[in-house]
Amino acid sequence: MQSYEIAVLKGDGIGPEIVEQAMAVLKKAGEKFGFTIHFQEALLGGAAIDATGVPLPQETIDICKAADSTLLGAVGGPKWDSQPSHNRPEKGLLGIRAALGLFANLRPALIFPELRAASPLKEDIIGDNLDILIVRELTGGIYFGERGRGEENGVPYAYDTEKYSVPEIERIVRVAFEMAQKRHHRLCSVDKANVLESSRLWRETVERLKADYPDVEVSHLYVDNCAMQLVRNPKQFDVIVTSNMFGDILSDEASMISGSIGMLASASLSSGKAGLYEPIHGSAPDIAGTGKANPLATILSAAMMLRYSLDQPAAADAIEAAVSKALSQARTADIQAPGLPVLPCKEMGALVASLV
Ligand code: IPM
Ligand code: MG
Repeated sequence: MQSYEIAVLKGDGIGPEIVEQAMAVLKKAGEKFGFTIHFQEALLGGAAIDATGVPLPQETIDICKAADSTLLGAVGGPKWDSQPSHNRPEKGLLGIRAALGLFANLRPALIFPELRAASPLKEDIIGDNLDILIVRELTGGIYFGERGRGEENGVPYAYDTEKYSVPEIERIVRVAFEMAQKRHHRLCSVDKANVLESSRLWRETVERLKADYPDVEVSHLYVDNCAMQLVRNPKQFDVIVTSNMFGDILSDEASMISGSIGMLASASLSSGKAGLYEPIHGSAPDIAGTGKANPLATILSAAMMLRYSLDQPAAADAIEAAVSKALSQARTADIQAPGLPVLPCKEMGALVASLV
């Protein structure tokens, strides 16, 4: 029987509770589709700081590198706010992305038909089956550029640098073109080329590469306009490709279109087969342990893992269908609907597992 080794980084806040539900759903999918998964837990973020002093222990990197893929919850919380900036939980997340070379972050923003009423946008704006894929560059740009602080004439300053090389842009843009080829053949590249030099290089690179993908229709938007278009007419988008920081911001915005940030999954891929899969939301320390957490984004991230890294597309489809069915029977607190019971995190996980 096919067997997979999965590294599990539960992280902080609601991380452990949502990841446990995704693990249960994966296990059920394995029983049904004939594979086994062995989970190996490792520490990341605040939990790692508490246990080892640092947010990303070497052992965690080693475990993730040896695994077929990694499942991650979320990191961070007020408990670690007083950590120096180089030792914050978020540094662990950025560090594991860099250590595994996860340059391509896929963030699908799609709306389950059951959740149309949960979207803050009017039904005629979201249309019938809104399905946008944001492809975010994840290991470059201002997140990893040179930064520092200094003082000029007694006035303190700080700076961060946005820097992209042509190969860095090419590899993420090619991933986005390939995704567009598998979807609706439309790619929108988002930048700030009216102001930023790095954006001008980004745009030139997209223009040069498009000759290799004649079946994909390419457009460019400035990021401010894209932010507006996402709520004005989101149906116009198929695949959006953008830099690390713009992708961070636009994917949070796009997530709300789908009703709740608690629904959105993500895949972070390198040039190899293994990836890292995590919900796009954070650790929500305010609701940790209350049962209010929504495990569906993590469960959907596990489905993406089956599809993109483990070659189990039927199991991935089954999990996504189970989530859809679960939404027609019950809800978590963030997506309540009249007439449907509100389930705590664990019970929602069990419901999805029972429907796989
Ligand atoms: C995300 C998060 C992270 C990011 C933070 C926690 C560092 O917001 O995954 O979108 O900015 O990449
Ligand atoms: Mg973010």
